[in-house]
Order: sequence, then structure tokens, then C-alpha cells
Amino acid sequence: MSITLCVPCDSAALALGADEVAQAIQTQAAARGIAIEIARTSSRGLFWLEPLVEVQTAQGRIGYGPVQVKDVPSLFDAAFHHGGAHPLGLGPVEEIPYLKHQERLTFARMGVTRPLSLEDYQSLGGYEGLRHALQRPDAEIIQVVLDSGLRGRGGAAFPAGIKWKTVAGAASHQKYVVCNADEGDSGTYSDRMTMEGDPFMLIEGMTIAAIAVGATEGYVYIRSEYPHAVATMREAVALATAAGFLSNNILGTGHRFHLEVRKAAGAYVCGEETAMLESIEGKRGVVRAKPPIPALHGLFGQPTVINNVITFATVPLILAKGAKFYKDYGVGRSHGTLPMQLTGNVKHGGLIEKAFGVTLRELIFDYGGGTASGRPVKAVQVGGPLGSYVPPEHWDVPMDYEAFAAVGATVGHGGIVVHDDSADMAQLARYAMEFCAVESCGKCTPCRIGSTRGVEVIDRLVGDQNRPQQVKLLRDLCDTMQNGSLCAMGSMTPNPVLSALNHYPQDFGLAAPQTKAA
Ligand SMILES: Cc1cc2nc3c(=O)[nH]c(=O)nc-3n(C[C@H](O)[C@H](O)[C@H](O)COP(=O)(O)O)c2cc1C
Ligand code: SF4
Repeated sequence: MSITLCVPCDSAALALGADEVAQAIQTQAAARGIAIEIARTSSRGLFWLEPLVEVQTAQGRIGYGPVQVKDVPSLFDAAFHHGGAHPLGLGPVEEIPYLKHQERLTFARMGVTRPLSLEDYQSLGGYEGLRHALQRPDAEIIQVVLDSGLRGRGGAAFPAGIKWKTVAGAASHQKYVVCNADEGDSGTYSDRMTMEGDPFMLIEGMTIAAIAVGATEGYVYIRSEYPHAVATMREAVALATAAGFLSNNILGTGHRFHLEVRKAAGAYVCGEETAMLESIEGKRGVVRAKPPIPALHGLFGQPTVINNVITFATVPLILAKGAKFYKDYGVGRSHGTLPMQLTGNVKHGGLIEKAFGVTLRELIFDYGGGTASGRPVKAVQVGGPLGSYVPPEHWDVPMDYEAFAAVGATVGHGGIVVHDDSADMAQLARYAMEFCAVESCGKCTPCRIGSTRGVEVIDRLVGDQNRPQQVKLLRDLCDTMQNGSLCAMGSMTPNPVLSALNHYPQDFGLAAPQTKAA
């Protein structure tokens, strides 16, 4: 009987040598006359263990990692293909604490299935959501999404159902569904993993959205730096089309939906939804003034649903398992789970899907194991380059959109970037302003000019040129950017700047904050 070994094909695993390891396993097996089959599965997202090779045994999958080419002969010597003991052995993969304690709903198939196998996808619940949706009136689909409490995972956390309802209610001969897969935030990769690892889940979610609102055309706008995601999504769209899941007559129900994959323009601002629409239309990615909102006047001026990859990818599960199932996860008004992405100076970086309510401390220390450098953690930036630096006193705040906002932090897309005590927060604040200056679309003055002036003010501040006046100027400038910018690029850049200044003033040459009594 042939033995199946799983080697991930996710681009993070590939970067760590997964292709070479798969080749070495194949060569060794042939040389030893051992019949094996290599399945190229998605990644579990336990990146410090990649390439993580899994062996299918009667007791489930046994893991070995991180495997390098030089380890392959000794793995065969130890009969790892039968689950044999080896120093790289990790035991049953599902029992690895990092994975075991997660609440994987959208990422349940991650690391388990072959991304482009419709058979694998359907064997683990794939397309159940669409089948449920096809049995209901369109308005009921939207009601289920509304009842689930699902909020947009791209950053602004706007309720998905309300957006869909607006598009459904708009009168037009042509409507669109657009997936924002630009994923430009620092430290984020859950969209990429979804597209590379479970692409039919995104296609299914977008199809359900299209049916619910009456759209017949869709686009997935994928960042240009993701060639593997672009290729996987293109192939998945072709396979779904061939199988009748995307067609003029979806599964014989008379519903029509077609999907096109677009490679993005390579600018951070093209992730802003209206700049993205301009880019898809073939124009320069410049932000449009709102109103009109894209739900009413979106792509080519037509009503358009725009959601993030994870937002769409969550929908099939909600339709299959019901609104209550999903809503029961989470805290407050933050329902469900969030695939959080732990990066930066952290020992065990990876993907952690947990219900809202988990704390940064649990994520950084229980999962992440603290810093990779072994030095104390100093600051954590959550929510991308425009997210605040969260100081230690807020690491026990439950991950919840409202609770985070109450302490001046943002959840955003769930990207968590850890810094140790060697980080210079004044330089990180300067970088935020510089990033905004480089990435600004240039449409409004507070962002276009303000960010350049911001870099200069921070330089004068750390250069000790009349510090009190520079602090006042910097705060004034941030106030103008926050309140006068046309989009979140300019209005949120002050988040990292002010959080660095407020929580780590000593890095700017100012007096250290008073330590609070325990
Ligand atoms: C500068 C900027 C960049 C953004 N980049 C992204 C992105 O890469 N992906 C994303 O989904 N949303 C991004 N957004 C948010 C989108 O404008 C929009 O709110 C989101 O795609 C809506 O989907 P959701 O409701 O599912 O979150 C960005 C916003 C701004 C201001
Ligand atoms: S805030 Fe910046 S990115 Fe947004 S519209 Fe104004 S100039 Fe463009």
C-alpha cells in the first residue's frame, strides 16, 4: 500500500524550502524502493515549523519539522513514513498545542487539503454553504449574514449584511461583487493563505454574495506581490467554472455568476476600496470622495459589494452552520473568529484563528513564545501600518473592535507585529509618516503635505530643536490629518505616531511616563 506524505505548497513553506524537501523525499523513497505519494497540501500556518511534513497513519497525521533537505535520509532511517521516532518528530499534528487550542472555523481545512482539489474541498464541508443558499430566497441569505453579526475583516469592521442589503435594494441592470485581496498591511498574510490554500472557499463566499444581491460579475483584486495566490486563484476559478459552480446556470438553478482575477497595481492605497475600483477600471489608483458609496455607485458606476477575502471566506460556513453557530463565538459586538497573524520579533510566528476576546498577551506569549531575540517585548503594532503601537498595560484588553477602540488601538485585519526593547519608537513614528508620504494618493492636502511635514517635525523633535514646540506642532499636525483627510490613509497615520509619542516619550527625548502604582 502506498504511503501518503503531505508537504505544504504555501509560498511561506516554499520560501523555506518545501519544494526541495518534497523532491528529496521523492528521490530517497525511490532509492530505497519505498512506494510513497506526496500530496501538496496547504500550510497549517505554524511557520516556525515549516516545511512541516506530515505522514498519514492509522492514528492520524504525524508531523515532522522544520525539515531540511539534509534531514531527509535520517528521517527515512527512522522510518518516519510509518510515523517513526525522530528528533524532528512533533507527534500527532492536531495535538500540537499551538494548533489544538485554536478555534479554526475559516481555517479548518488549512494544512489538511490540497488547495486545487474540489474533491478534498467538498469532502470537508466545501460548497455546503452554497447549496444551503440556493435553497433560500435571496433576502433570507442576507438575513442570515446579518444575524451572524459578521463584520468586514478588511479593517473598518462594517457589518457585511448591511452592505449586501444596500446593494440588493439598489435598482440596476448590472451589479458587481469585488473582493479586496490587496492585503498591504504589515504583518498580514491570512488573505494570501486563504487564496493559496483554500481558494474555493473564497469563490464560494463570493458566489453566495452575488446570488444574494443579484450580481452576475465579480473580480478578485490580488496584490501584485502575491504571484502564487494569483496563479492559484486563476486555476481555481477555471476548475470551479468547469464544474458548474461558476456559470450562466450555477448547478442548474438559473443563477449566473462569473469571476475574474485581477493583479493589483502595487500601491498600498489601492487597497482603499474606491482607489481599488479606479484601478480595476484601468485608471490610476486615486481615492474617490464618498458619497456616493460603492454599494450604490461602485465599479463602472454600478452597485457593488466590496469585501475583504476573510469576510467572503466566512460566509459559506455561516450559511452551512447557521447564523447562531457563528454568532456564539466572540465577545460584545465582535462576533465569530479572526485569523490573527503573529509576526515581527516573535519566536513562534504564525496564523492563530481564535474567537474575539483573546488577549494580546495570550497571543504573544502563550502562542508566540515571546520574542525571537529573547529580549523583553516593548511594543506591539496591531492593525497594519496605520495601527497603534500597543503598550504592555493594554496587552490584557480582550481583542474586540470596541474594547480596542476604547484604548486607542485598532484590530484591523488582525496583523500583530512584535518589537523587542531595542526598538526606537521615535524612528518607528517617523517611518509611519514617511510611509504615508510615499503611499499617499495625493488627492487631499492633510495627507499629501502633512505626512512630509510630519517627517520633518519628528526629525526636529529627536534632534532636540525646541522640543516643546515640536511636540505641539506634531500634535496639531496629527489633529489636522485625523480630521481633514479624505480617507483612512491620512486620518489613521497619526495612530502609530501618537501612540509612540504618548506611550514611549523617552524615545523622543522627553520625560518618561509616570509608572502607575500596581
Ligand atoms: C489605505 C487603505 C488601504 C486598505 N487596504 C485594504 C486591503 O488591502 N484589503 C482590504 O480588504 N481592505 C483594505 N482597506 C479597507 C477597504 O477600504 C474596505 O474597507 C474593505 O475592503 C471593505 O471590506 P470589508 O467590509 O470586508 O472589510 C484599506 C483602506 C485604506 C484606507
Ligand atoms: S488621505 Fe491620502 S490617500 Fe486618502 S485621499 Fe487623501 S491623499 Fe489620498
